[in-house]
Parts: sequence; structure tokens; C-alpha cells
Amino acid sequence: MALQHTNPTTTKAWGKLTRHLADTKANTLKELFREDPKRAQKHTISWNDFLVDFSKNRLTQETLDLLMELANEVGLKDAIEKQYGGETINQTEDRAVLHTALRAKKTDVVTLDGVNIVSEVYEVKAHIKAFTDAIISGEKKGYTGKTFTDVVNIGIGGSDLGPAMVTEALKFYGNHLKMHFVSNVDGDHVYETLKGLNPETTLFVVVSKTFTTQETLSNATTIKNWFLKHAEQEDVAKHFAAVSTNTEKIAEFGISADNVFPMWDWVGGRFSLWSAVGLSIALAVGYDHFDAMLEGANDMDVHFKTADFQENIPVVLAMISIWYNNFYGAETEAIIPYTQYLSRFSAYLQQGIMESNGKSVDRNGERVTYETGTIIWGEPGTNSQHAFFQLIHQGTKLIPADFIGFKTPLHGDNDHHNKLMANFFAQTEALMNGKTSDQVNDELVQTNMSEEARKLLLPFKVFEGNKPTNTLLIDKLTPKSLGSLIALYEHKIFVQGIVWNIFSYDQWGVELGKQLATTVLNDIEGQEIADHDGSTLNLLETFKNEQVI
Ligand code: F6P
Repeated sequence: MALQHTNPTTTKAWGKLTRHLADTKANTLKELFREDPKRAQKHTISWNDFLVDFSKNRLTQETLDLLMELANEVGLKDAIEKQYGGETINQTEDRAVLHTALRAKKTDVVTLDGVNIVSEVYEVKAHIKAFTDAIISGEKKGYTGKTFTDVVNIGIGGSDLGPAMVTEALKFYGNHLKMHFVSNVDGDHVYETLKGLNPETTLFVVVSKTFTTQETLSNATTIKNWFLKHAEQEDVAKHFAAVSTNTEKIAEFGISADNVFPMWDWVGGRFSLWSAVGLSIALAVGYDHFDAMLEGANDMDVHFKTADFQENIPVVLAMISIWYNNFYGAETEAIIPYTQYLSRFSAYLQQGIMESNGKSVDRNGERVTYETGTIIWGEPGTNSQHAFFQLIHQGTKLIPADFIGFKTPLHGDNDHHNKLMANFFAQTEALMNGKTSDQVNDELVQTNMSEEARKLLLPFKVFEGNKPTNTLLIDKLTPKSLGSLIALYEHKIFVQGIVWNIFSYDQWGVELGKQLATTVLNDIEGQEIADHDGSTLNLLETFKNEQVI
């Protein structure tokens, strides 16, 4: 059975939310807190080692009730059942969406086409464990008998961003292996990476769900040729591993069957780090940490599937985001982790969120008449405070932000951690409260400034405040808590796709660029340039005529 196809703007809840916005828009967060001393407790969810405080949002209990009414009207509960049940909810690609099965418990049963896919998942997990244990321990060695020191992950999009983000996030738990990521088809990226590497001690992991992606195949071929300048063809078997659904193509590339890790078409690229696509993660931090990450994700899966919507972290965060995106007209959302380890987190989520929900055609095949996918951006705090926070505080745009922080630092330096977290708490408070003209005036009066000078300066120092934030306070950055955090955002994507009545699991928009790049490559490398618009033609001619080789 297909997903329900409801235009969200036709629901009763949508109309009520529109009226509710008009009634409540003038309320400020400061007033809401003044009116209800228990507001913070009421709008906080404590779950495992997570505390999610969403009280600093422009909403009341009535807003939340209406948002959940909207979720109910569009059939969210049923959609969740369908996703977990392996129904073909990725209709445009005729596939189920079962990345949750990758982190299922061994005793769980997820049946697809009559097969319990959890058994297959555990077979591959056993292979990942055996392979990564052997590389890390030095049991598997390079072609000259030396232990591996470096790993290069060759992939792009979901075959790069997830492993790259997680290996950085879990660096603290790492071993002696140094990780490198080659993604861009830019040869300079490839050669810069190879520059410091020793072919005798480097393992290459080629990751491509389709094994047809131009970037990955070009990079893998260049790297194999570089390797073969130092080693023999038969040595490729010791130094190359591959992850793909396309095992035939891997064989053509010459990778030994022992080093081939399958994945499945029911795993979308941007949701694949839990599969063998996470081989580089397991190499970087060891299999047990990789598995702990899956366990954390599974905990979040169970929470998402079973918790009441009002207590359900992904549902609450997704619906609040819809409140801003569709009713307040917010254009973007910021994600600010207060740990340097999560420096790649928003780049990773950009693919997850924007490739999934960047759609303008609904599940009926019709152009949507409302906003869909949110634009995501962010950098770690406190760096971002000294970069773009000015605009969030005093700019003209409404930018809801998620603040992610941890109670305990990994290296145990509480002096630094207290400073970091002081900024974490201070920023959400400042964004909410702002600074009134009276407060600014009182401050200026303390200076020696003349009254005239004070009056001139005052408006520039006023902060409107009333800027919404969610605070995610987590005990500690561990493989397990990271798994839960990533899964939280995955489920948020799902909820929003359901509400917006779009297909979140295809990515046809990326295909056009791929096709055009192939045509243009022929133009560059061939004699003739095919028909193009005037600008593109001019640019191509200039490039061909003036290229220095
Ligand atoms: O960007 C489009 C896309 O298809 C992503 O969804 C995917 O993660 C990426 O390309 C890489 O694809 P593959 O893993 O097949 O090389």
C-alpha cells in the first residue's frame, strides 16, 4: 500500500495553524517564559542520555497540539509503520527504505520479498568485523609485508560524507590508522592526498553504491594507476576493497572477492553509513565502536517508532521546523554543534536533508504550492559565533537553530569545557532575550559618552531577541550517542517528507548535472562543441583555446 497522498495545506490543522499564527505572532519568547514558570520543563524531552529543550521556540502547547494534529492528518503513524515494514515507499525508484534494518538487533526480523534481511545484514557485519580486525591488528599486511598505516576512502556524496563526518566525530576513539577521503573529481584533490602516502602501507576503500559514479571511478582508476607504478597487478587484491550493490563492476575493476562488501538497493546513499559504506569508520575506530554507533541508532529507531508524537524527539523537532518553514516563512536552519569533533556534521546533514526534501513535485506528481526542504548550514560553536552569528542576532532573517552540546569533554579539560559550554548556554539565552534599548541605555550611561553620542549609538546596540533555538544537551560524545544523534536527524527528514507529501528517497535532481557533464566533457575533449546557449559556448571556447596543458 502506497503512502497517503495528502496536500498538507488542505488539512484542517493547516488552516488552524495559519489562524493560530496570526493570533500568536506578537507573543515574544520572553513573555511566554514570564507567563509560565514551568515552560522549560513542559517543553523538554529527556530520553536516554539526551535532553532536548525546545522551550525557546515561538510556540505554545496549542501550537504543538495543532502541529501533531497536522502530523496525524497526513498519516504519519501509518507512514512510519510502512517504512519499518519494508513497503515500497520510495515509489519513484520502486524501492523500500530500510536503513533502519542495518542497525536492527540480531533477533529482529525485517522481511523483504520473503527474506529476513536482518540475517544478510549480520553476515555483512561479520565480514566487516573480520576484515577490519585483521587490518587494524596487522594480521593483514600490504604487498611488501608491512602493516597498514593509512586508509583512503574513495567515494562521493553518501559514499563519502557519512564516513568522513563520523571518522572525524569519533577521532578520539581512533587507532593508529590515518584516514583520508578522496571525493572530488578534481585531480588536485587526488594528488594532494596521494602526496604523502606510501603505497606499501596504504589501503584503498572504493565506495560506490552504483559503481557508475564518474567521480569515484575516475579517482579509483587514477589511484590504482598510481599504485601500479609501485606494485604489481596481483598486489591490488591486498590493497583495494570495495563496497557496492554492483558486484559485477567491482570484479571488472580487479578487486579480490574477499574484499568486496555488498550493500542493498533499499539503502539510500545518504543513509548508508550504517552499512559496509561505514567500512572506513570501522577501520578508523574499530568494529566495536562502529557497532556501538549502530546500537545508538537502533535506540533512536525504537524511540521514533514507539514514543507518542508529543514525546517523540524526531517528530517534535520536525514539526517545529515545519512551523517555521511553512508558517513563519523561515528560509534556513542552522545547526551549531559545540564540539570541534562535529565539524563535518552540518555538511553531512546538508546531503541528508537537502537531497531528500529538496523537491517541488508532490506524491501526486503535481507542483507543490507550499515550501518544502529546509536549507541547512552551520559550523561548530564557538567559531561560528565569530563568523555568522552577527546575522542571526541582528540580521533581518529568522534563522531557527539547533544547538548541540555535551556535558562531558573527551579529554577531560573542564576549564576549556566550561568556557565552551558557557558560550553554548549564553548564546541561546541571548538569542531569546536580546537587549532592549533601556538596557543598552543603562550600559551607555555608565560610560563617559555624551548624551548625543549615546543616542546615536543606541539603535545599533539593540538586539531584538525572540530568536528560536532548540538545545540538545547530551551526556558525552560517544559512538552510541553519535548513532542516536544521526538517526534523530534521519527520522526528522522522514517526518517532514511525509508532511510535505513528497518522495524523500529519490534524487532525480542530481541526474541532470551528471548527464550534462558527460555532454560537456565530449565538447571539451572532442573537435566540435555541440549547441549551447551563448554564455556556455563562449566559456567553453575560451577554456579550450586558453587551457594550458
Ligand atoms: O548525489 C547523487 C548520489 O546519487 C547520492 O545520492 C549518492 O550518495 C552519490 O551520488 C554517490 O553515489 P554512489 O554511491 O552510487 O557512487
